[in-house]
Amino acid sequence: MLSLSSVSSLVLGSGLLFSSVFASSNSSSTGCRCFPGDSCWPSQQGWNEFNQTVGGKLIATVPIASVCHNSDFGSYDEAACKTLQGHWPYPKTHFESSSSLMAPFFSNYSCNAFTKPDTQCTLGNYISFAVNASGTKDYQDTIAFVRKHNIRLVIRNRVHDYLGKSTGAGALAIWTHHMKDMELVDYKSPSGDHGYTNVDGDCATVGVAGGYTQGGGHGPGASKFEPAADQALEWEVVTGEGEVLTANMENNTDLFWALSGGGGGTYGVVSSLTAKVYPDLKSSAANLTFPSEGVNNDSWWDAVETFIHESPNLMESGCFAIWSFEAEDGFMMRPTNCPGLPQAELQKILDPTLEKLKQHNISHKFLINEFDTFYDSYKTFNARHLISPSVEASRLVTRDSFDSKFDDLMSLYRTYVENCLSVGTTANNISMQGFPPHNNSLDPFRREAVFNTIFSLPMHQTDWEENMHRYSEITGHWLPMMEELTPGARAYIKEADWQQPDWQTVFYGENYPKLLEIKDKYDPDQIFFAVTAVGSDRWYQNYAEGGRLCRA
Ligand SMILES: Cc1cc2nc3c(=O)[nH]c(=O)nc-3n(C[C@H](O)[C@H](O)[C@H](O)COP(=O)(O)OP(=O)(O)OC[C@H]3O[C@@H](n4cnc5c(N)ncnc54)[C@H](O)[C@@H]3O)c2cc1C
Ligand SMILES: *[C@@H]1O[C@H](CO)[C@@H](O)[C@H](O)[C@H]1NC(C)=O
Ligand SMILES: *[C@@H]1O[C@H](CO)[C@@H](O)[C@H](O)[C@H]1NC(C)=O
Ligand SMILES: *[C@@H]1O[C@H](CO)[C@@H](O)[C@H](O)[C@H]1NC(C)=O
Ligand SMILES: *[C@@H]1O[C@H](CO)[C@@H](O)[C@H](O)[C@H]1NC(C)=O
Ligand SMILES: *[C@@H]1O[C@H](CO)[C@@H](O)[C@H](O)[C@H]1NC(C)=O
Ligand SMILES: *[C@@H]1O[C@H](CO)[C@@H](O)[C@H](O)[C@H]1NC(C)=O
Ligand SMILES: *[C@@H]1O[C@H](CO)[C@@H](O)[C@H](O)[C@H]1NC(C)=O
Ligand SMILES: *[C@@H]1O[C@H](CO)[C@@H](O)[C@H](O)[C@H]1NC(C)=O
Ligand SMILES: *[C@@H]1O[C@H](CO)[C@@H](O)[C@H](O)[C@H]1NC(C)=O
Ligand SMILES: *[C@@H]1O[C@H](CO)[C@@H](O)[C@H](O)[C@H]1NC(C)=O
Repeated sequence: MLSLSSVSSLVLGSGLLFSSVFASSNSSSTGCRCFPGDSCWPSQQGWNEFNQTVGGKLIATVPIASVCHNSDFGSYDEAACKTLQGHWPYPKTHFESSSSLMAPFFSNYSCNAFTKPDTQCTLGNYISFAVNASGTKDYQDTIAFVRKHNIRLVIRNRVHDYLGKSTGAGALAIWTHHMKDMELVDYKSPSGDHGYTNVDGDCATVGVAGGYTQGGGHGPGASKFEPAADQALEWEVVTGEGEVLTANMENNTDLFWALSGGGGGTYGVVSSLTAKVYPDLKSSAANLTFPSEGVNNDSWWDAVETFIHESPNLMESGCFAIWSFEAEDGFMMRPTNCPGLPQAELQKILDPTLEKLKQHNISHKFLINEFDTFYDSYKTFNARHLISPSVEASRLVTRDSFDSKFDDLMSLYRTYVENCLSVGTTANNISMQGFPPHNNSLDPFRREAVFNTIFSLPMHQTDWEENMHRYSEITGHWLPMMEELTPGARAYIKEADWQQPDWQTVFYGENYPKLLEIKDKYDPDQIFFAVTAVGSDRWYQNYAEGGRLCRA
């Protein structure tokens, strides 16, 4: 079986087991993590020595927006600040930094590129230091150091996370972004060729081996080949005890089960993932947009409803579709990717919607095409992603709910839009191909779902109070309406509300207790913490003390 292996020169450190090294550690079993300014915080010399241990790869955080302020980090630089503001929406601006993140809410405006030069620029909720890791030895050294000094650990990969996982006040981060070598291997015996496709995210910059695959991961190939978690064959991981383990279907099978779909950041730090790839194939794709401005409301909704009503045909044909609609910008389906489906078949599924648009005389833009390879269709149709931070919640809608509650769903969508929410959907059918059942921790509910539907308000760039208000509205008012319509349903952890009530069940389903057992086996001292990760409810971020992480 061919697979893609993300490898980084995997020197297994000195192979030492850490229990002996940690005998004199100061990981207190109660209380809070050590915080900058505490007497337990390492001295400058302590950090310098650690920097030597990791070969000079320690980076002290300088917030990227420090160029926009007069602060301890330097003075306001108008030109550099303007440039940064222009680059802010691009994921690259953030994942190339050792400390920035794409969900600005979680940096808590402690150093915001859009506030006035004399407003604060402090570390705040940013990590304090990062280790620019290049192998498992760096992971081990960092874990040993945080254990010794009781420091909060954060795992940062490509920092696309929406829920505040990739930052943390007073933390030392393992920054895995530069470990992205790839190798095509025959999983049983080495060979290699190119011309393969895999189940990546719709956004090309999402990290594959990090939060994405561990959280289930959906993207343009998911209806055809199943979600990313199902592609995993083997994980290489450093545990909370500093041990390097290989988890697959033969060894450390419980860890393999947990990492494949059980959410990242809590069982260990992944250094390598081996995942399946498939021969590339002919593919079709389409996009469609139509404005709402100047269009009669009922006619516009008639067209939207027709599209949504027909959409299960897309999923049953192996397509993955992304669409959104809102009062101001109208309807956007950008795009639908159909690996293996001829253009004419895709056209047939979209025809009823195009007919409706014609019938109501709604101007629209429609483009459809066929390509020799899936990669070509992806390159052409999947627009470069910009980050547009929003205050959001989401819900998975099963095929049964879709069929039995279609009218109620449409009327809730309409209520959302009339109240200025944007409604986005990623739609797939991850069980259409009749693959044999997988033994992993992806919540089986995901396999029943057709829609991951996200409803959101924009995030204000500089007004914290306003955003808090929008979060209460989303979590307290708009989410319960969707929950009432879909009792017992779940949400996709990667695109969800970080304040989701009952998140253990809503994000992990009935797997939660077993996942927690596995977490405790491989991380008995609770070194790993990430917001809404398995076991994270044993901690809280104490905002009265600057966001310090404390035992609940
Ligand atoms: C613009 C954009 C587009 C997106 N599109 C999609 C999409 O099409 N499909 C989809 O499914 N999701 C999508 N997402 C969501 C995305 O899957 C998640 O945000 C995911 O967590 C990103 O992974 P990352 O490694 O880039 O993120 P990070 O923020 O670096 O990681 C998130 C968390 O995962 C854990 N983690 C990361 N690396 C490791 C590791 N090596 N070992 C252990 N734990 C680790 C850590 O807890 C970390 O904090 C999108 C997000 C954005 C911002
Ligand atoms: C151990 O940690 C505690 C609490 O953080 C701190 O007060 C103490 O000074 C530390 N002891 C040593 C030996 O570092
Ligand atoms: C770590 O060492 C490198 C190389 O000497 C140096 O460039 C870097 O600034 C050091 N990091 C810290 C946080 O001191
Ligand atoms: C991190 O390390 C990589 C090599 O692994 C290097 O190319 C990169 O410049 C380093 N980044 C920083 C910010 O030090
Ligand atoms: C499992 O571990 C054993 C013992 O270390 C090893 O011989 C075997 O190759 C491993 N199997 C896999 C599939 O990794
Ligand atoms: C699936 O894997 C888990 C973890 O190793 C194991 O406990 C369980 O028995 C397996 N289930 C099946 C049906 O093979
Ligand atoms: C429909 O009409 C209302 C005003 O009555 C308006 O607020 C809303 O944005 C309109 N558009 C859509 C797409 O529903
Ligand atoms: C359709 O809309 C166009 C403008 O978008 C207008 O010129 C035309 O008269 C309309 N036709 C009908 C039948 O309403
Ligand atoms: C649709 O896809 C084409 C081809 O890539 C692109 O040029 C166009 O901008 C897209 N339209 C929309 C509205 O996304
Ligand atoms: C997915 O497709 C299969 C095969 O057509 C079908 O049996 C199943 O009901 C579909 N599931 C969903 C969630 O749409
Ligand atoms: C964010 O900052 C505000 C004050 O600016 C403070 O009230 C709040 O507790 C902080 N929250 C976090 C998450 O740090």
